[in-house]
Amino acid sequence: MKPLLTKPLLPYHASLFLLMTLTGFALSTLVDEYIILISILVVEYVILLIILLHVYDKYMKPIRKTSQTVDELVKGNYRARVHHSAGGSIGELNNKLNVLARNLSEFQIQEKVQEEQLSTLIDNTQSGLVLVDEKGYIHLVNRKFLTMFGGNAHDYQGFLYYDVLANETIHETVQDTFLYEKNMTYSFTQIIGVEKKYIEIVGAPIFNERNILKGAVLLMYDITHLKKLELMRKDFVANVSHELKTPITSITGFAETLKNGAKNDPASLDRFLTIIYDESTRMQGLIEDLLTLSKLEKDEFEITRTVVDMTQLVQEILPVVDQRAEQKGITLTTHVDDSITIQADAERIKQVMINLLTNAISYTLKDGDVNLSITDEGDTVHIQVSDNGIGIPEKAVPRIFERFYRVDKARSRNTGGTGLGLAIVKHIIEVHDGCINVESEPEKGSVFHVYLPKYDPALS
Ligand SMILES: Nc1ncnc2c1ncn2[C@@H]1O[C@H](COP(=O)(O)OP(=O)(O)O)[C@@H](O)[C@H]1O
Ligand SMILES: [Mg+2]
Repeated sequence: MKPLLTKPLLPYHASLFLLMTLTGFALSTLVDEYIILISILVVEYVILLIILLHVYDKYMKPIRKTSQTVDELVKGNYRARVHHSAGGSIGELNNKLNVLARNLSEFQIQEKVQEEQLSTLIDNTQSGLVLVDEKGYIHLVNRKFLTMFGGNAHDYQGFLYYDVLANETIHETVQDTFLYEKNMTYSFTQIIGVEKKYIEIVGAPIFNERNILKGAVLLMYDITHLKKLELMRKDFVANVSHELKTPITSITGFAETLKNGAKNDPASLDRFLTIIYDESTRMQGLIEDLLTLSKLEKDEFEITRTVVDMTQLVQEILPVVDQRAEQKGITLTTHVDDSITIQADAERIKQVMINLLTNAISYTLKDGDVNLSITDEGDTVHIQVSDNGIGIPEKAVPRIFERFYRVDKARSRNTGGTGLGLAIVKHIIEVHDGCINVESEPEKGSVFHVYLPKYDPALS
Protein backbone atom coordinates (compact mmCIF):
# COMPACT_ATOMS: atom_id res chain seq x y z
CA MET A 1 0.00 0.00 0.00
CA LYS A 2 1.22 3.48 -0.85
CA PRO A 3 2.14 5.90 1.94
CA LEU A 4 -0.94 8.02 2.04
CA LEU A 5 -0.63 9.69 5.37
CA THR A 6 -0.68 13.10 3.90
CA LYS A 7 -2.12 16.36 5.15
CA PRO A 8 -5.81 15.75 4.36
CA LEU A 9 -5.65 12.63 6.54
CA LEU A 10 -4.51 14.48 9.68
CA PRO A 11 -8.02 15.14 11.07
CA TYR A 12 -8.81 11.45 10.56
CA HIS A 13 -5.62 10.51 12.39
CA ALA A 14 -6.57 12.76 15.24
CA SER A 15 -10.02 11.12 15.44
CA LEU A 16 -8.29 7.74 15.34
CA PHE A 17 -6.11 8.63 18.33
CA LEU A 18 -9.11 9.95 20.21
CA LEU A 19 -11.05 6.76 19.50
CA MET A 20 -8.09 4.64 20.58
CA THR A 21 -7.61 6.57 23.81
CA LEU A 22 -11.29 6.09 24.62
CA THR A 23 -11.07 2.37 23.80
CA GLY A 24 -7.88 2.19 25.97
CA PHE A 25 -9.77 3.64 28.92
CA ALA A 26 -12.71 1.32 28.42
CA LEU A 27 -10.49 -1.75 28.12
CA SER A 28 -8.24 -0.83 31.07
CA THR A 29 -11.12 -1.72 33.39
CA LEU A 30 -11.51 -5.14 31.71
CA VAL A 31 -7.92 -6.13 30.89
CA ASP A 32 -5.40 -6.35 33.72
CA GLU A 33 -2.30 -7.15 31.72
CA TYR A 34 -0.78 -3.94 30.44
CA ILE A 35 0.99 -5.67 27.57
CA ILE A 36 -2.27 -7.25 26.29
CA LEU A 37 -3.96 -3.87 26.41
CA ILE A 38 -1.17 -2.32 24.32
CA SER A 39 -1.31 -5.20 21.83
CA ILE A 40 -5.09 -4.83 21.44
CA LEU A 41 -4.70 -1.11 20.87
CA VAL A 42 -1.93 -1.59 18.28
CA VAL A 43 -3.98 -4.21 16.39
CA GLU A 44 -7.00 -1.89 16.58
CA TYR A 45 -4.90 1.00 15.30
CA VAL A 46 -3.63 -1.02 12.35
CA ILE A 47 -7.13 -2.26 11.45
CA LEU A 48 -8.59 1.23 11.65
CA LEU A 49 -5.69 2.65 9.67
CA ILE A 50 -6.20 0.09 6.91
CA ILE A 51 -9.92 0.93 6.82
CA LEU A 52 -9.11 4.64 6.68
CA LEU A 53 -6.64 4.24 3.87
CA HIS A 54 -9.08 2.10 1.96
CA VAL A 55 -11.82 4.73 2.34
CA TYR A 56 -9.41 7.43 1.25
CA ASP A 57 -8.23 5.53 -1.82
CA LYS A 58 -11.69 4.44 -2.87
CA TYR A 59 -13.69 7.63 -2.26
CA MET A 60 -11.65 10.65 -1.36
CA LYS A 61 -8.90 10.38 -3.93
CA PRO A 62 -11.20 9.87 -6.98
CA ILE A 63 -13.33 12.82 -5.86
CA ARG A 64 -10.24 15.02 -5.64
CA LYS A 65 -9.09 13.86 -9.10
CA THR A 66 -12.56 14.51 -10.51
CA SER A 67 -12.61 17.94 -8.94
CA GLN A 68 -9.19 18.77 -10.45
CA THR A 69 -10.44 17.70 -13.91
CA VAL A 70 -13.57 19.86 -13.51
CA ASP A 71 -11.29 22.80 -12.62
CA GLU A 72 -9.32 22.23 -15.85
CA LEU A 73 -12.54 22.07 -17.89
CA VAL A 74 -13.78 25.29 -16.29
CA LYS A 75 -10.50 26.92 -17.34
CA GLY A 76 -11.24 25.85 -20.92
CA ASN A 77 -8.77 22.98 -21.17
CA TYR A 78 -11.11 20.52 -22.86
CA ARG A 79 -8.33 17.96 -23.22
CA ALA A 80 -8.37 17.25 -19.47
CA ARG A 81 -9.65 13.73 -18.55
CA VAL A 82 -10.10 11.77 -15.30
CA HIS A 83 -7.69 8.83 -15.44
CA HIS A 84 -8.47 7.39 -12.00
CA SER A 85 -10.08 3.95 -12.19
CA ALA A 86 -12.87 4.17 -9.67
CA GLY A 87 -15.85 1.91 -9.40
CA GLY A 88 -19.42 2.56 -8.37
CA SER A 89 -21.06 5.97 -8.61
CA ILE A 90 -17.75 7.83 -8.69
CA GLY A 91 -16.54 5.68 -11.57
CA GLU A 92 -19.79 6.37 -13.39
CA LEU A 93 -19.46 10.10 -12.68
CA ASN A 94 -15.89 10.05 -14.02
CA ASN A 95 -16.97 8.26 -17.20
CA LYS A 96 -19.71 10.82 -17.77
CA LEU A 97 -17.29 13.64 -17.08
CA ASN A 98 -14.87 12.20 -19.64
CA VAL A 99 -17.65 11.96 -22.23
CA LEU A 100 -18.60 15.56 -21.50
CA ALA A 101 -14.96 16.65 -21.82
CA ARG A 102 -14.66 14.75 -25.13
CA ASN A 103 -17.82 16.40 -26.47
CA LEU A 104 -16.60 19.82 -25.42
CA SER A 105 -13.25 19.15 -27.05
CA GLU A 106 -14.91 18.02 -30.32
CA PHE A 107 -17.15 21.05 -30.21
CA GLN A 108 -14.13 23.28 -29.73
CA ILE A 109 -12.32 21.63 -32.67
CA GLN A 110 -15.40 21.99 -34.88
CA GLU A 111 -15.77 25.60 -33.91
CA LYS A 112 -12.12 26.22 -34.71
CA VAL A 113 -12.40 24.47 -38.09
CA GLN A 114 -15.52 26.49 -38.93
CA GLU A 115 -13.82 29.68 -37.87
CA GLU A 116 -10.80 28.84 -40.03
CA GLN A 117 -13.01 27.90 -42.98
CA LEU A 118 -14.89 31.15 -42.68
CA SER A 119 -11.77 33.27 -42.45
CA THR A 120 -10.19 31.37 -45.40
CA LEU A 121 -13.37 31.94 -47.37
CA ILE A 122 -13.50 35.62 -46.50
CA ASP A 123 -9.83 36.10 -47.28
CA ASN A 124 -9.86 34.19 -50.55
CA THR A 125 -13.04 35.54 -51.96
CA GLN A 126 -12.46 37.50 -55.14
CA SER A 127 -14.47 40.44 -53.86
CA GLY A 128 -13.27 43.03 -51.39
CA LEU A 129 -15.16 42.77 -48.09
CA VAL A 130 -15.55 45.27 -45.24
CA LEU A 131 -17.64 44.79 -42.12
CA VAL A 132 -18.87 48.00 -40.46
CA ASP A 133 -20.83 48.14 -37.20
CA GLU A 134 -23.83 50.38 -36.56
CA LYS A 135 -21.58 53.13 -35.20
CA GLY A 136 -19.43 53.09 -38.34
CA TYR A 137 -16.41 51.27 -36.92
CA ILE A 138 -14.68 48.82 -39.22
CA HIS A 139 -14.46 45.31 -37.74
CA LEU A 140 -13.08 43.34 -40.64
CA VAL A 141 -11.43 43.84 -44.01
CA ASN A 142 -10.36 40.94 -46.21
CA ARG A 143 -7.24 40.38 -48.31
CA LYS A 144 -8.86 41.34 -51.63
CA PHE A 145 -9.96 44.65 -50.14
CA LEU A 146 -6.36 45.32 -49.11
CA THR A 147 -5.11 44.60 -52.65
CA MET A 148 -7.67 47.11 -53.92
CA PHE A 149 -7.03 49.88 -51.40
CA GLY A 150 -3.56 49.09 -50.07
CA GLY A 151 -2.37 49.08 -46.45
CA ASN A 152 -2.75 46.45 -43.73
CA ALA A 153 -5.79 45.23 -41.85
CA HIS A 154 -4.78 47.20 -38.73
CA ASP A 155 -4.84 50.42 -40.77
CA TYR A 156 -8.62 49.96 -41.05
CA GLN A 157 -9.91 47.71 -38.28
CA GLY A 158 -11.09 49.58 -35.21
CA PHE A 159 -11.36 52.90 -37.06
CA LEU A 160 -14.38 54.82 -38.27
CA TYR A 161 -14.91 54.08 -41.97
CA TYR A 162 -14.99 57.78 -42.95
CA ASP A 163 -11.67 58.40 -41.21
CA VAL A 164 -9.74 55.71 -43.07
CA LEU A 165 -11.56 55.46 -46.41
CA ALA A 166 -11.42 58.55 -48.59
CA ASN A 167 -13.71 57.28 -51.34
CA GLU A 168 -16.97 59.24 -51.42
CA THR A 169 -18.93 56.41 -53.05
CA ILE A 170 -18.05 54.10 -50.16
CA HIS A 171 -19.33 56.73 -47.70
CA GLU A 172 -22.51 57.10 -49.70
CA THR A 173 -22.99 53.32 -49.80
CA VAL A 174 -22.64 52.95 -46.02
CA GLN A 175 -24.93 55.93 -45.32
CA ASP A 176 -27.63 54.79 -47.74
CA THR A 177 -27.47 51.19 -46.52
CA PHE A 178 -28.03 52.45 -42.95
CA LEU A 179 -30.68 54.90 -44.04
CA TYR A 180 -32.78 52.66 -46.29
CA GLU A 181 -31.86 49.40 -44.50
CA LYS A 182 -31.66 47.49 -47.77
CA ASN A 183 -29.00 46.48 -50.31
CA MET A 184 -27.49 49.43 -52.14
CA THR A 185 -25.34 49.16 -55.28
CA TYR A 186 -23.00 51.80 -56.66
CA SER A 187 -19.85 51.82 -58.77
CA PHE A 188 -16.66 53.84 -58.91
CA THR A 189 -13.24 53.79 -60.49
CA GLN A 190 -10.08 53.11 -58.56
CA ILE A 191 -6.45 53.16 -59.63
CA ILE A 192 -4.91 49.84 -58.60
CA GLY A 193 -1.20 49.70 -59.37
CA VAL A 194 -1.04 51.42 -62.71
CA GLU A 195 -4.42 50.26 -63.94
CA LYS A 196 -7.76 51.97 -63.74
CA LYS A 197 -10.30 49.49 -62.38
CA TYR A 198 -14.08 49.67 -62.34
CA ILE A 199 -15.43 48.59 -58.96
CA GLU A 200 -19.01 47.78 -58.11
CA ILE A 201 -19.86 48.16 -54.43
CA VAL A 202 -22.84 46.51 -52.74
CA GLY A 203 -23.79 47.52 -49.20
CA ALA A 204 -25.95 44.98 -47.34
CA PRO A 205 -27.45 45.77 -43.92
CA ILE A 206 -26.97 43.32 -41.03
CA PHE A 207 -29.81 42.84 -38.54
CA ASN A 208 -29.87 41.09 -35.19
CA GLU A 209 -32.54 38.55 -34.19
CA ARG A 210 -34.82 41.39 -33.08
CA ASN A 211 -34.48 42.97 -36.53
CA ILE A 212 -32.43 45.89 -35.27
CA LEU A 213 -29.71 47.19 -37.59
CA LYS A 214 -26.31 46.07 -36.29
CA GLY A 215 -24.08 47.19 -39.16
CA ALA A 216 -23.38 46.61 -42.82
CA VAL A 217 -21.24 44.41 -44.96
CA LEU A 218 -19.68 46.05 -48.02
CA LEU A 219 -18.75 43.87 -50.99
CA MET A 220 -16.59 45.25 -53.77
CA TYR A 221 -16.35 43.54 -57.15
CA ASP A 222 -13.88 44.26 -59.91
CA ILE A 223 -16.11 44.72 -62.96
CA THR A 224 -13.38 46.03 -65.27
CA HIS A 225 -13.67 43.08 -67.68
CA LEU A 226 -17.44 43.60 -67.93
CA LYS A 227 -16.97 47.28 -68.60
CA LYS A 228 -14.43 46.47 -71.28
CA LEU A 229 -16.82 43.99 -72.89
CA GLU A 230 -19.58 46.57 -72.79
CA LEU A 231 -17.27 49.12 -74.36
CA MET A 232 -16.23 46.61 -77.04
CA ARG A 233 -19.85 45.83 -77.79
CA LYS A 234 -20.68 49.53 -78.07
CA ASP A 235 -17.65 50.07 -80.32
CA PHE A 236 -18.66 47.12 -82.45
CA VAL A 237 -22.22 48.36 -82.90
CA ALA A 238 -20.90 51.84 -83.72
CA ASN A 239 -18.44 50.37 -86.25
CA VAL A 240 -21.02 48.17 -87.94
CA SER A 241 -23.44 51.07 -88.20
CA HIS A 242 -20.72 53.26 -89.63
CA GLU A 243 -19.61 50.61 -92.14
CA LEU A 244 -23.17 50.09 -93.31
CA LYS A 245 -23.98 53.76 -93.42
CA THR A 246 -21.32 54.59 -96.02
CA PRO A 247 -22.57 52.27 -98.79
CA ILE A 248 -26.23 52.94 -97.95
CA THR A 249 -25.72 56.71 -98.17
CA SER A 250 -24.02 56.32 -101.48
CA ILE A 251 -26.67 53.93 -102.87
CA THR A 252 -29.51 56.24 -101.76
CA GLY A 253 -27.70 59.30 -103.12
CA PHE A 254 -27.04 57.82 -106.55
CA ALA A 255 -30.48 56.23 -106.80
CA GLU A 256 -32.00 59.61 -106.03
CA THR A 257 -29.83 61.34 -108.63
CA LEU A 258 -30.93 58.76 -111.19
CA LYS A 259 -34.55 59.22 -110.22
CA ASN A 260 -34.25 62.97 -110.52
CA GLY A 261 -33.30 62.74 -114.19
CA ALA A 262 -29.78 61.30 -114.47
CA LYS A 263 -31.34 58.04 -115.73
CA ASN A 264 -31.99 59.76 -119.04
CA ASP A 265 -28.28 60.26 -119.62
CA PRO A 266 -26.91 56.83 -120.68
CA ALA A 267 -23.35 57.61 -119.50
CA SER A 268 -24.50 58.71 -116.02
CA LEU A 269 -26.95 55.82 -115.84
CA ASP A 270 -24.18 53.34 -116.49
CA ARG A 271 -21.71 54.99 -114.10
CA PHE A 272 -24.20 55.39 -111.25
CA LEU A 273 -25.56 51.87 -111.64
CA THR A 274 -21.98 50.54 -111.43
CA ILE A 275 -21.47 52.49 -108.22
CA ILE A 276 -24.76 51.21 -106.80
CA TYR A 277 -23.77 47.67 -107.77
CA ASP A 278 -20.31 47.99 -106.18
CA GLU A 279 -21.69 49.47 -102.99
CA SER A 280 -24.32 46.72 -102.69
CA THR A 281 -21.61 44.12 -103.23
CA ARG A 282 -19.56 45.72 -100.46
CA MET A 283 -22.56 45.65 -98.13
CA GLN A 284 -23.18 42.04 -99.01
CA GLY A 285 -19.54 41.21 -98.23
CA LEU A 286 -19.74 43.03 -94.92
CA ILE A 287 -22.91 41.24 -93.89
CA GLU A 288 -21.43 37.88 -94.90
CA ASP A 289 -18.30 38.59 -92.86
CA LEU A 290 -20.38 39.68 -89.87
CA LEU A 291 -22.44 36.51 -90.05
CA THR A 292 -19.28 34.39 -90.31
CA LEU A 293 -17.77 36.13 -87.28
CA SER A 294 -20.89 35.80 -85.19
CA LYS A 295 -21.10 32.10 -86.12
CA LEU A 296 -17.43 31.56 -85.18
CA GLU A 297 -17.84 33.39 -81.89
CA LYS A 298 -20.78 31.32 -80.72
CA ASP A 299 -19.86 29.07 -77.80
CA GLU A 300 -21.38 26.03 -79.42
CA PHE A 301 -19.51 26.57 -82.70
CA GLU A 302 -17.74 23.43 -83.78
CA ILE A 303 -15.67 22.67 -86.82
CA THR A 304 -16.19 19.53 -88.85
CA ARG A 305 -12.80 17.98 -89.38
CA THR A 306 -12.12 15.74 -92.35
CA VAL A 307 -8.88 14.58 -93.88
CA VAL A 308 -7.82 17.43 -96.16
CA ASP A 309 -5.25 17.10 -98.93
CA MET A 310 -3.36 20.40 -99.06
CA THR A 311 -2.35 20.14 -102.74
CA GLN A 312 -5.97 19.67 -103.71
CA LEU A 313 -7.07 22.50 -101.42
CA VAL A 314 -4.63 24.90 -103.06
CA GLN A 315 -5.90 23.85 -106.53
CA GLU A 316 -9.40 24.75 -105.40
CA ILE A 317 -8.58 28.23 -104.12
CA LEU A 318 -6.25 29.36 -106.92
CA PRO A 319 -9.03 30.22 -109.41
CA VAL A 320 -10.59 32.50 -106.77
CA VAL A 321 -7.46 34.62 -106.31
CA ASP A 322 -5.70 34.17 -109.68
CA GLN A 323 -7.94 36.62 -111.44
CA ARG A 324 -7.31 39.37 -108.90
CA ALA A 325 -3.57 38.82 -109.11
CA GLU A 326 -3.64 38.91 -112.90
CA GLN A 327 -5.62 42.16 -112.92
CA LYS A 328 -2.82 43.82 -110.93
CA GLY A 329 -0.04 42.09 -112.80
CA ILE A 330 1.03 40.35 -109.64
CA THR A 331 2.96 37.10 -109.94
CA LEU A 332 1.39 34.50 -107.69
CA THR A 333 3.56 31.48 -106.99
CA THR A 334 2.79 28.46 -104.85
CA HIS A 335 4.77 25.67 -103.28
CA VAL A 336 3.18 22.72 -101.47
CA ASP A 337 5.22 19.86 -99.97
CA ASP A 338 4.25 16.46 -101.33
CA SER A 339 1.25 14.65 -99.92
CA ILE A 340 0.46 16.77 -96.86
CA THR A 341 -2.86 15.96 -95.29
CA ILE A 342 -4.38 17.48 -92.18
CA GLN A 343 -7.51 16.86 -90.15
CA ALA A 344 -9.34 20.14 -90.47
CA ASP A 345 -12.44 21.91 -91.67
CA ALA A 346 -11.61 22.25 -95.39
CA GLU A 347 -14.00 25.14 -96.08
CA ARG A 348 -12.67 27.15 -93.14
CA ILE A 349 -9.03 26.55 -94.08
CA LYS A 350 -9.84 27.69 -97.63
CA GLN A 351 -11.35 30.84 -96.14
CA VAL A 352 -8.10 31.48 -94.21
CA MET A 353 -5.95 31.11 -97.33
CA ILE A 354 -8.26 33.17 -99.53
CA ASN A 355 -8.34 35.99 -96.96
CA LEU A 356 -4.55 36.00 -96.55
CA LEU A 357 -3.92 35.83 -100.31
CA THR A 358 -6.53 38.51 -101.04
CA ASN A 359 -4.83 40.78 -98.52
CA ALA A 360 -1.40 40.05 -99.97
CA ILE A 361 -2.67 40.96 -103.44
CA SER A 362 -4.64 44.00 -102.22
CA TYR A 363 -1.75 45.47 -100.25
CA THR A 364 0.92 44.87 -102.90
CA LEU A 365 1.55 47.34 -105.64
CA LYS A 366 1.23 46.53 -109.35
CA ASP A 367 3.68 43.92 -110.69
CA GLY A 368 4.56 42.70 -107.20
CA ASP A 369 5.06 39.15 -106.03
CA VAL A 370 2.91 37.02 -103.78
CA ASN A 371 3.86 33.53 -102.65
CA LEU A 372 1.95 30.79 -100.91
CA SER A 373 3.99 27.99 -99.45
CA ILE A 374 2.84 25.00 -97.43
CA THR A 375 5.45 22.92 -95.67
CA ASP A 376 5.34 19.77 -93.60
CA GLU A 377 6.83 20.28 -90.12
CA GLY A 378 6.16 16.93 -88.49
CA ASP A 379 3.03 17.28 -86.40
CA THR A 380 2.24 20.72 -87.78
CA VAL A 381 1.68 22.25 -91.17
CA HIS A 382 3.24 25.63 -91.83
CA ILE A 383 1.29 27.87 -94.21
CA GLN A 384 3.18 30.96 -95.28
CA VAL A 385 1.75 33.83 -97.33
CA SER A 386 4.35 36.41 -98.29
CA ASP A 387 4.30 39.52 -100.44
CA ASN A 388 6.59 42.39 -101.34
CA GLY A 389 3.86 44.95 -100.84
CA ILE A 390 3.33 48.03 -98.72
CA GLY A 391 3.97 46.27 -95.41
CA ILE A 392 2.54 47.16 -91.99
CA PRO A 393 3.95 49.77 -89.58
CA GLU A 394 5.38 48.12 -86.45
CA LYS A 395 2.90 49.66 -84.02
CA ALA A 396 -0.07 48.52 -86.15
CA VAL A 397 1.01 44.87 -86.29
CA PRO A 398 -0.56 43.81 -82.95
CA ARG A 399 -3.84 45.44 -83.94
CA ILE A 400 -4.50 44.09 -87.45
CA PHE A 401 -6.45 41.10 -86.09
CA GLU A 402 -8.94 43.39 -84.32
CA ARG A 403 -12.32 43.76 -85.94
CA PHE A 404 -12.54 46.76 -88.25
CA TYR A 405 -8.93 47.77 -87.67
CA ARG A 406 -7.25 48.95 -90.85
CA VAL A 407 -3.94 50.71 -91.28
CA ASP A 408 -5.33 52.80 -94.11
CA LYS A 409 -9.14 52.93 -94.16
CA ALA A 410 -9.46 54.41 -97.63
CA ARG A 411 -7.07 51.93 -99.22
CA SER A 412 -8.84 49.00 -97.57
CA ARG A 413 -12.24 50.23 -98.75
CA ASN A 414 -11.00 50.72 -102.31
CA THR A 415 -9.93 47.10 -102.42
CA GLY A 416 -13.33 45.96 -101.15
CA GLY A 417 -12.06 45.19 -97.67
CA THR A 418 -14.41 45.04 -94.71
CA GLY A 419 -11.80 45.19 -91.94
CA LEU A 420 -13.03 41.82 -90.69
CA GLY A 421 -10.90 39.45 -92.80
CA LEU A 422 -8.04 38.91 -90.34
CA ALA A 423 -10.41 38.72 -87.34
CA ILE A 424 -12.12 35.82 -89.11
CA VAL A 425 -8.75 34.24 -89.99
CA LYS A 426 -7.61 34.37 -86.38
CA HIS A 427 -10.82 32.83 -85.11
CA ILE A 428 -10.67 29.95 -87.57
CA ILE A 429 -7.05 29.20 -86.69
CA GLU A 430 -7.80 29.28 -82.99
CA VAL A 431 -10.69 26.84 -83.26
CA HIS A 432 -8.25 24.55 -85.08
CA ASP A 433 -5.81 24.89 -82.13
CA GLY A 434 -3.29 26.60 -84.40
CA CYS A 435 -1.58 29.97 -84.26
CA ILE A 436 -0.78 32.89 -86.55
CA ASN A 437 1.93 35.53 -86.54
CA VAL A 438 3.20 38.25 -88.83
CA GLU A 439 6.54 39.62 -89.90
CA SER A 440 6.33 42.88 -91.76
CA GLU A 441 8.34 45.87 -92.81
CA PRO A 442 6.80 48.97 -94.38
CA GLU A 443 7.49 49.19 -98.11
CA LYS A 444 9.27 45.84 -98.08
CA GLY A 445 6.41 43.45 -97.59
CA SER A 446 4.76 41.09 -95.16
CA VAL A 447 4.84 37.41 -94.27
CA PHE A 448 1.91 35.76 -92.50
CA HIS A 449 2.79 32.44 -90.82
CA VAL A 450 0.04 30.01 -89.89
CA TYR A 451 0.79 26.83 -87.93
CA LEU A 452 -1.89 24.16 -87.79
CA PRO A 453 -1.74 20.81 -86.00
CA LYS A 454 -1.99 17.99 -88.54
CA TYR A 455 -4.12 15.79 -86.34
CA ASP A 456 -7.20 16.55 -84.37
CA PRO A 457 -5.77 17.08 -80.83
CA ALA A 458 -9.07 15.84 -79.37
CA LEU A 459 -8.58 12.45 -81.04
CA SER A 460 -4.84 11.89 -80.73
N1 LIG B 1 -0.44 41.56 -96.58
C1 LIG B 1 -0.67 42.74 -96.04
N2 LIG B 1 0.14 43.79 -96.27
C2 LIG B 1 -0.07 44.98 -95.68
N3 LIG B 1 -1.09 45.26 -94.84
C3 LIG B 1 -1.93 44.25 -94.56
C4 LIG B 1 -1.76 42.96 -95.12
N4 LIG B 1 -2.75 42.18 -94.65
C5 LIG B 1 -3.49 42.94 -93.83
N5 LIG B 1 -3.01 44.20 -93.78
C6 LIG B 1 -3.51 45.32 -92.94
O1 LIG B 1 -4.39 44.78 -91.96
C7 LIG B 1 -5.68 45.39 -92.06
C8 LIG B 1 -6.74 44.39 -91.66
O2 LIG B 1 -6.86 43.36 -92.59
P1 LIG B 1 -8.26 42.66 -92.83
O3 LIG B 1 -8.76 42.25 -91.50
O4 LIG B 1 -8.11 41.62 -93.86
O5 LIG B 1 -9.18 43.83 -93.29
P2 LIG B 1 -9.34 44.50 -94.72
O6 LIG B 1 -8.41 43.80 -95.64
O7 LIG B 1 -10.73 44.27 -95.07
O8 LIG B 1 -9.03 45.92 -94.50
C9 LIG B 1 -5.78 45.87 -93.46
O9 LIG B 1 -6.66 46.94 -93.56
C10 LIG B 1 -4.35 46.30 -93.77
O10 LIG B 1 -4.13 47.58 -93.27
MG1 LIG C 1 -8.75 41.67 -95.89
